[in-house]
Amino acid sequence: MFESLTPAPPDPILGLSEAFRNDPNPHKIDLSVGVYRDEQGTTPMFACVREAAQRLAASETTKSYLPIDGLPEFGKRVRELLFAEGHSKLATDDRAVTAQTPGGTAALRVAADFVRRCFPQARVWCSRPTWNNHPAVFAAAGLEGVEYPYIDAAGTGLDLPAMIAALRGAARGDLVCLHASCHNPTGIDPTPEQWNEIARVVADRGLLPLVDFAYQGLGDSLKGDAVGLDTLCRTGCDLLVASSYSKNFGLYGERVGALTIVAGTPESSRAAMSHVKACARVNYSNPPKHGGQIVATVLADAELRHTWERELDTMRRRIHGMRSLFVETMRRKAPGRDFAFLTRQKGMFSYSGLTRDQVERLRREHSVYIVGSGRINVAGIAENNIDRLCDAIAAVIA
Ligand code: LMR
Repeated sequence: MFESLTPAPPDPILGLSEAFRNDPNPHKIDLSVGVYRDEQGTTPMFACVREAAQRLAASETTKSYLPIDGLPEFGKRVRELLFAEGHSKLATDDRAVTAQTPGGTAALRVAADFVRRCFPQARVWCSRPTWNNHPAVFAAAGLEGVEYPYIDAAGTGLDLPAMIAALRGAARGDLVCLHASCHNPTGIDPTPEQWNEIARVVADRGLLPLVDFAYQGLGDSLKGDAVGLDTLCRTGCDLLVASSYSKNFGLYGERVGALTIVAGTPESSRAAMSHVKACARVNYSNPPKHGGQIVATVLADAELRHTWERELDTMRRRIHGMRSLFVETMRRKAPGRDFAFLTRQKGMFSYSGLTRDQVERLRREHSVYIVGSGRINVAGIAENNIDRLCDAIAAVIA
């Protein structure tokens, strides 16, 4: 049967990691997949994670299944992280319920399956551009996708009027996917005032926000990154949050994520969760245990939580530092081209403005790996590759 198959195209992001691994050039540079790297180019295990894992190894007595919606303690800690810093009281309110999922991607998929199952007319609105996998995940769940404009003509800031105008055209009950912070792929986040306007159109039009929160703590702070979510919650609308602990705990391979539902009453959130559980059951049955236990252990222990926040601060500071270093170095190597906008953007990603051809030449001629759209992972930049990187970029834009 399989003789008739032609290969599927490689994934636009994870496919590049494969190509990078196969590149024999010892000076190759990887700015593709959204994985944090330290000054030495490694993706370190957090000290708090190591300690939590050791405690678990000493105390764990069973590897039996978790419930379909995961560890209750994990859900509780997730809600504290999402809401406690705001004023919405949702951290302890029964109107918010959480299902642990295998990573943020499964949270998105289960959210999409839930919407398709319960509200089959709903379409899903995604920013243009958005994470490559968003439209693919939503389409796989059978949802019709629509785009709203996001970036301005210069490609460096938010075009809020265009975004709002498009969302005004959404139908009641449509799902709107919003990036809580550290927008992937552009690094362009709304200001608190702009979030007010977004929340207003969501409430006016009766839209269902699906907030993708994959980078909490990597933009401004744990609290600062939750401003958009907090603003949406204050409108009193029902909403969904897909959160990931890959980046902010360095738990990529453990697949730790969560889908949190916020509804008007505890009864409605429980009813919604029963459908989410039915969607999870036919997909992955129940989530993996280890990563969720680690996150819950760290967040429940004052000392480990303190260590975690310090480790997260270090990551965030390094990313900010690399943004400035890149801008300064490019100023010297290619004075005609201004990259200062990078210092105004948040998180691991920025749209560099490099064309597909330039990205292709960077890979072929310089072994520098960037996503085809021109998205760079700033966390892949280091003191020991900055000159080579900027020389290569200067060469392809000359
Ligand atoms: C990315 O955008 O690079 C990350 O979210 C990793 C992924 O799965 O694509």
